[in-house]
Amino acid sequence: METIKIKTPNTTYPINALLLKRWSALSFSEKQIEETDLLCIFEAASWAASSMNEQPWEYHYAYRGTPSFEKMWNCLLEGNKSWSKNASVLILSLARKNLHRNNLPNRHALYDTGAANTNLMLQAAAQDIYGHQMGGFDMDKTKSEFSISDDYEIACFICLGYLDTPEKLEDKFRVREIIPRKRKNLQEFVKKW
Ligand SMILES: Cc1cc2nc3c(=O)[nH]c(=O)nc-3n(C[C@H](O)[C@H](O)[C@H](O)COP(=O)(O)O)c2cc1C
Repeated sequence: METIKIKTPNTTYPINALLLKRWSALSFSEKQIEETDLLCIFEAASWAASSMNEQPWEYHYAYRGTPSFEKMWNCLLEGNKSWSKNASVLILSLARKNLHRNNLPNRHALYDTGAANTNLMLQAAAQDIYGHQMGGFDMDKTKSEFSISDDYEIACFICLGYLDTPEKLEDKFRVREIIPRKRKNLQEFVKKW
């Protein structure tokens, strides 16, 4: 499947095609992502801008069918479990809290990691790979299961895979999969001084 047409929004002003293409998918096919394709996606993440070029992001990933995937998937909250089990890859996105140069707090760490994650999601879409970022996970469980040190903040989980039909989803998720994406009007968040 290439995409679901209704997910391509009608924007008020014209924007780049890749931004139109990306959306948070729920239905994933069995097809696994080739590791070389996955590395292109991480490469794109690495080209995000970051404060002082600190690059505070770190990624850990596992393929479906491995014990690590199972362990990661078990850290997700129930609402994310049923559909994400079919994803090809689960990724844990971390932000290093302190600066490498002097170990002082980097107040931009999560901001920069979010920017890298946006690059990651857009590069995936460019490769016809869809993803879903997830903040719905058990923080304490994830920290202890993966021995995440206090040097890191967990930004989110991300799943990636190729699209499948909405029909294979449970009712409530199928509905989400086929409704249009919505955004605020620009007037609500863009203010001219
Ligand atoms: C940091 C972050 C956390 C999110 N957490 C979840 C989540 O736990 N479960 C979920 O279904 N979607 C989650 N989403 C996806 C958002 O709901 C989605 O991006 C939003 O509804 C806009 O839809 P779109 O990405 O298709 O444009 C998350 C997105 C982000 C950026």
